[in-house]
Amino acid sequence: MSDTVITLPKWYDLHAHFRQDELLAPLVEAHLAMGCAGVVAMPNTRPPVAKVFDEDPGEEISVTAYRDQLFAAANDQLDEIIVPLYLTQATTPGMIERGARSGLLRACKYYPPHGTTGSEFAQHFEAFMGNGVFAAMQDNGVVLCIHGEEHGLSGEDYFGRKDNAEERFYRQRMPRLRERFPDLRVVAEHLTSKLGVDFVRQAGEGVAASVTPQHLIYTVGDLLQNFKYHLYCLPLVKFDEDRAALREAVLDPDNRQFFAGTDSAPHTAKITPCGCAAGCFTGGIAPQLYAEAFELAGADLDQQQGVDALRRFLVENGAGFYGLPVSDDTFRLIRRPTSVTPLSTSAGEITPLPLGIGPGCPEGRGELAWSLEL
Ligand code: DOR
Ligand code: ZN
Repeated sequence: MSDTVITLPKWYDLHAHFRQDELLAPLVEAHLAMGCAGVVAMPNTRPPVAKVFDEDPGEEISVTAYRDQLFAAANDQLDEIIVPLYLTQATTPGMIERGARSGLLRACKYYPPHGTTGSEFAQHFEAFMGNGVFAAMQDNGVVLCIHGEEHGLSGEDYFGRKDNAEERFYRQRMPRLRERFPDLRVVAEHLTSKLGVDFVRQAGEGVAASVTPQHLIYTVGDLLQNFKYHLYCLPLVKFDEDRAALREAVLDPDNRQFFAGTDSAPHTAKITPCGCAAGCFTGGIAPQLYAEAFELAGADLDQQQGVDALRRFLVENGAGFYGLPVSDDTFRLIRRPTSVTPLSTSAGEITPLPLGIGPGCPEGRGELAWSLEL
């Protein structure tokens, strides 16, 4: 039997981390190698991307400068780069208005303070509810990318059988946000829980969600068994019923709200003196992993219906939500095993997720079921 080949327009990774300095070029290259036409590049650099224009006051990186660096690293091979502004104590409605009017500010990112990698510059969610920032975003059509986890919880509230940080956020904060700013366009980033999925589905078209490969493939047991720390990302992978809700949402023939956002988050030092850095690296291999995830979810990628679901998720829905054109260029997914290798950079080696998680660790799962060709 010949290998199944799926030809798709180049896709947008609507949530990825490219870091800075010497990491930027190899990370952008890994995204180009997996058929990306564009990216939403997250702003949790050091210092953060927390002002819009270079000439604005402060030592932060500007959206314009970071975007220019990314375009340069891509040799202009990326068609679209959206850099969300990191929301901090210093963010003002005026910054949002001016940025939006210039056309450069398309999105802002809310991080839970001290809740994840690089979130120490963040400000409490409620501050933006009342200080005019969310209002200015709504008025100017700027998308709010939300890391939806309640911060500052005790361990037992953070992750328990009945409740966890993400569920608390979607139960308590999101309904109020929707009520107060019904026209604010929101992306529930890297969604992991059934409660979050249900919220997004009932919220309708102004709310969308990015979904990572790992949250479609794994559950918390995969992380905990032998503590496969390369699967440690935030929000944490959750339970079977949560993964089932995500799988059902992405396979739904009417899905317009759920799209690909890898949250590819490279770390050259995963293990730190005080624990483990959160983030799974899937640069170079995400469409292959998504294809595998869709098959695990029950999609038949030999049939048009299955391919259509993958195309909506990977290519169409995110582009539609952000108003980006679907690319004229294509790439191919081929059902043919391919090996995964670590990414070598001058700042150190980065382990792609499946290498760190297989039963044969330290080699890990070094093979993927799908290959990708440009
Ligand atoms: O796992 C994660 N890694 N979650 C985040 O929110 C940030 C990211 C990173 O930048 O490493
Ligand atoms: Zn992220």
